[in-house]
Amino acid sequence: MPGQPHREREPQEVFGSEEGVASIVDTMVGISLEDSRMAEILMASDLVRLRRTLKEQFCCILAGPCDYTGRDMASSHKDHGITNREFNALVENLQLAMNREGVPFRAQNKLLAKLAPMQRDVVTR
Ligand code: HEM
Repeated sequence: MPGQPHREREPQEVFGSEEGVASIVDTMVGISLEDSRMAEILMASDLVRLRRTLKEQFCCILAGPCDYTGRDMASSHKDHGITNREFNALVENLQLAMNREGVPFRAQNKLLAKLAPMQRDVVTR
């Protein structure tokens, strides 16, 4: 917009609405399925449901107009014995996905900052 070249865009704008969030999740899950640190755990789960609930969750985190219909983070991860190494793998794969989708660094950090506190519910080992 003329006169406002440096206005900071809100995260949901940068992520390009629900479709932008959806492609980031699909790319992140795709990369993670080929990542030996995570593949085995993920393969054993319902990937259709996981993709759907992740899209809903990220959309909510980014203040999009959507409902999260999945379980809380502690219940959904408690049986998987997830380690910090696996948690870091997911974060790295999300960063790769956001880079591929052209999400600016600042907006990437905003999403990552919201996921960071979930580490204590996800990592049990
Ligand atoms: C901040 C990090 C993470 C977030 C935000 C996240 C988010 C989610 C969400 C939204 C679900 C769906 C819950 C449901 O089905 O109701 C889920 C399930 C699951 N997540 Fe994560 N997750 C994270 C880290 C991880 C890591 C590091 C792993 C390791 C591989 C992992 C493996 C799984 C598995 C296997 C399920 C399916 C659980 C089941 O159906 O029993 N997650 N996660």
